[in-house]
Amino acid sequence: MTNLQKAQALDQSDRLAEFYQRFYHPENEIYLDGNSLGKQPLKTKERLVSVLDEQWGQQLIGSWNKHWLELPKRIAGKIAQLVNADSDEVVVGESTSVNLFKLAHALIESGLYPKRLITDSLNFPTDNYILEGISSYLKMSPPLCVSYSSDLEADIAQLKEVIRSNQGVLCLSLVSYKSAYYYPAKMLNAFAKSHDSIIIWDLSHAVGAVHFDVKETETLAAIGCTYKYLNGGPGSPAFMFIDSQLSSSLSSPIQGWFGHANPFEFTSAFEAAKGIEKFNAGTPQILSLSALEIGLEITLDAGIRPIREKSELLGNYLIEKIQSELIPIGFKLESPEGYENRGSHVTISHQESWRICQCLLHPKRGEPKITIDFRPDKYIRIGMAPLYTRYIDLWQTVERLRAIVTSREFEQHDGKKPVVT
Ligand SMILES: Cc1ncc(COP(=O)(O)O)c(C=O)c1O
Repeated sequence: MTNLQKAQALDQSDRLAEFYQRFYHPENEIYLDGNSLGKQPLKTKERLVSVLDEQWGQQLIGSWNKHWLELPKRIAGKIAQLVNADSDEVVVGESTSVNLFKLAHALIESGLYPKRLITDSLNFPTDNYILEGISSYLKMSPPLCVSYSSDLEADIAQLKEVIRSNQGVLCLSLVSYKSAYYYPAKMLNAFAKSHDSIIIWDLSHAVGAVHFDVKETETLAAIGCTYKYLNGGPGSPAFMFIDSQLSSSLSSPIQGWFGHANPFEFTSAFEAAKGIEKFNAGTPQILSLSALEIGLEITLDAGIRPIREKSELLGNYLIEKIQSELIPIGFKLESPEGYENRGSHVTISHQESWRICQCLLHPKRGEPKITIDFRPDKYIRIGMAPLYTRYIDLWQTVERLRAIVTSREFEQHDGKKPVVT
């Protein structure tokens, strides 16, 4: 059996294979960037057209009572189902950055934890910017950043030592955006709890790709985006999870009318809604929420366990190919080798990473365009979205990477970079 036949056989035995048909696929393109922006489900357009024509077009403001007021709650319930939260522990809306601001601010001001913000060097930049902003706004010391010697994985002993001697409110990305390093959340939550601390988990690179259970891991607080593995579309609304017992002690720093107990009574005094609803602020993004619901339904249909299982298998397959075909020609594996410490993308590097990415994105001789992404200063991320990534896509990508390097095709490109890489 050739390597291609092996990949084809793996696709044939894939129990999620039928989900490929549920997405829009641009012609002659292998898309391995679902960890940045997920593909468009075919049903999304139909849903949006119906919201535009029937709800907004025909029923106009009447749609608030008929369809829209209940939409954010319904969607939050679906996200809750995915992470095994209760439906009153999740709200959906706005961006991950804004949700982190509200949640971290609320925890710091709650008096439940020492007033210190802690992050680490694997965290996504916006999270660190938000924490920095909160600390200057509240006139606290700047966030403490645990800086590891490697971009690849967290040094858990170092992280625990920092928590032991500097308690407070931590924010960590459950799956790190650069290397896909997957933190041992349950152990860290327990450690934080026993040291008067709490961890806000950023689930952006995890939700919809890894099996994460807030109850099993004793997670108390999380945020995340929905435009990656949940296929909600560009800028689709983010979410916030807070354990129901904890949320009763928290207040949102943004008191908006949608977080009021009775927004449509238009009272002059603010009265916070009960539970997590108080973290809502303004009018929900109905079009984006409508699109997101389709992505969520597909994910729930497939089931998060089979999704995670396929993500592990795809990752193992790709890493095997990288080790046998790419490492001998100068690539380096920049993700954890074992699936238990890895999310759903695999990162590699090469001294010509940028120019190699240009060859993949701008093929010359009729090869497919291969969309992966480049992250400074040298990382090539290969994202596997288990609902639609196939083994043959990974096989073909490794073949192309090998050809680009062995033929020195990358020399045809200069090193100039655009704004969005
Ligand atoms: C881990 C992580 N957190 C936060 C963000 C930013 O989210 P938003 O643009 O919704 O604020 C991203 C974006 O890619 C991300 O990967």
